[in-house]
Amino acid sequence: MKSFVYISAGFLSLVSSTEAYRPSRPNDLDFTQAQAEAHNCGLVCQQNLRQYEVLDRQVFGDVPFDYEFYETAANFSHSRPGDMLKLRQQNASAYDIPPGTSLWTMQYTSVGVNGTNVPATAFIALPYTKVPEHKTPLVAYAHGTIGVVSACAASSSYNGFDYHSWQLLTGPGYAVVATDYAGLGNNYTSHKYGNPVLNSEDTYFSVVAARKAFPGAFTDKWAAVGHSQGAGTVWGLSENPRVVSKESGDYLGGVSIAPSSRLNDILTAVPLNVGWGFGNEVVNIFQALKFPIQPIVLTPEALKRYPLMYELQLCDTSQAELNADLPNHGIVDFTPSITQHNHEAYIAFQNKYGAATGRKGYKELLVIQAIDDEVINVNATKAAYEDACKIGNIVHLSLYPGLDHDSSVAASSPEWLEWLDNKFTGVATRDSHKCVMETRSVLLDTSR
Ligand SMILES: *[C@@H]1O[C@H](CO)[C@@H](O)[C@H](O)[C@H]1NC(C)=O
Ligand SMILES: *[C@@H]1O[C@H](CO)[C@@H](O)[C@H](O)[C@H]1NC(C)=O
Ligand SMILES: *[C@@H]1O[C@H](CO)[C@@H](O)[C@H](O)[C@H]1NC(C)=O
Ligand SMILES: *[C@@H]1O[C@H](CO)[C@@H](O)[C@H](O)[C@H]1NC(C)=O
Ligand SMILES: *[C@@H]1O[C@H](CO)[C@@H](O)[C@H](O)[C@H]1NC(C)=O
Repeated sequence: MKSFVYISAGFLSLVSSTEAYRPSRPNDLDFTQAQAEAHNCGLVCQQNLRQYEVLDRQVFGDVPFDYEFYETAANFSHSRPGDMLKLRQQNASAYDIPPGTSLWTMQYTSVGVNGTNVPATAFIALPYTKVPEHKTPLVAYAHGTIGVVSACAASSSYNGFDYHSWQLLTGPGYAVVATDYAGLGNNYTSHKYGNPVLNSEDTYFSVVAARKAFPGAFTDKWAAVGHSQGAGTVWGLSENPRVVSKESGDYLGGVSIAPSSRLNDILTAVPLNVGWGFGNEVVNIFQALKFPIQPIVLTPEALKRYPLMYELQLCDTSQAELNADLPNHGIVDFTPSITQHNHEAYIAFQNKYGAATGRKGYKELLVIQAIDDEVINVNATKAAYEDACKIGNIVHLSLYPGLDHDSSVAASSPEWLEWLDNKFTGVATRDSHKCVMETRSVLLDTSR
């Protein structure tokens, strides 16, 4: 294995002068006025793009995008799901990660639409020490929304797209494997956004591949933690029949924080004319799948701009603001007939690709939900919990007063870190055989 492991951060600055110019990242904007105008993006729109692209860039920092790493591996074509295709040790000092942690990027084979093999990438963060006589416990982390085009790879971010999230796992000594999800990083296939079924395949096979990358290093037991898009993923993972096979080891269960499990419930509770930042991404959900029913989301003006998300490789913040200057942020007027049509599309999608829509759950799930979450409405999560429990799945739902969508991860970490610890050490947890919903109390009520 050692022979192909090398430090690759920094190499891209040495691009030879004969090679065509490539920006340090594919989402470095260098659009021309003509290109923007060809997509109905006038001067105000161009100003917005420049302004919000700066915010997107902050998510990735100064680490150059390793184009060569993200290219499909030569041996992908005859590989099998869970095969490791590329492994690189990154220069940890160039990243903002907890001291002592080593950082690796990995390309591996996953499963996409209709059971086809697809390449995916991930990063692996390893703790410095190991406990004598013990293997290192392994957690798969599934990140929240970062964007839907290939430039938006969490593994290409200076801190692995940490927002007081996956890095909390390094203190207690977990090894973390964090998938980018297929289509983010590598561009063999388009990303399938907000898709608990397919995103859970990427998470599952990241674990199988991580074991091949570091044979014998990890405990047979593993667990998953995810936020938002990744929480839908972890819910999907608990219903993915693969977790009962031994191929990945012994899957203990997962933690799902602010889950995007059921699209129709989420978009009914917070419609797109309120949560307009998701307009382009919801279009992507259906277009990338060539789904038989396409919802009506964007106005004709906004639809003309939609291809810019791909051409300019816009990640979450700049795609969200692409239509900031259009009336109603480019979201259509939801007449009763459009609303009805969209519900049909959302329900058909969530039945096929969602979670908590009637499938058996194989492993325990801890769901965490902030009552004031502005993105994932608490009532949508309660409905998902109730439906899952009704068919006999074991779900624990913890509700947290206050907190917004992003702060719920770190604020609830005492609970989910304890839950993980109990799972790995085999401590029986209270009510592990039944569904429980409870509201956690806060130390200081600062709302008064
Ligand atoms: C995919 O990425 C490769 C470089 O890795 C690039 O040459 C190619 O144009 C990209 N394809 C698409 C469809 O973006
Ligand atoms: C693909 O090639 C890499 C080395 O280039 C190797 O480490 C890996 O095991 C190969 N994977 C498969 C499935 O052949
Ligand atoms: C690793 O990164 C640090 C900080 O960016 C840099 O000073 C150092 O030269 C790098 N080492 C290698 C081997 O590239
Ligand atoms: C998946 O297969 C179905 C049925 O054969 C087909 O209609 C659909 O287009 C396929 N999806 C994709 C994304 O290729
Ligand atoms: C959840 O539903 C209840 C009962 O219908 C309603 O009173 C409450 O406002 C809803 N909460 C949110 C955050 O939408």
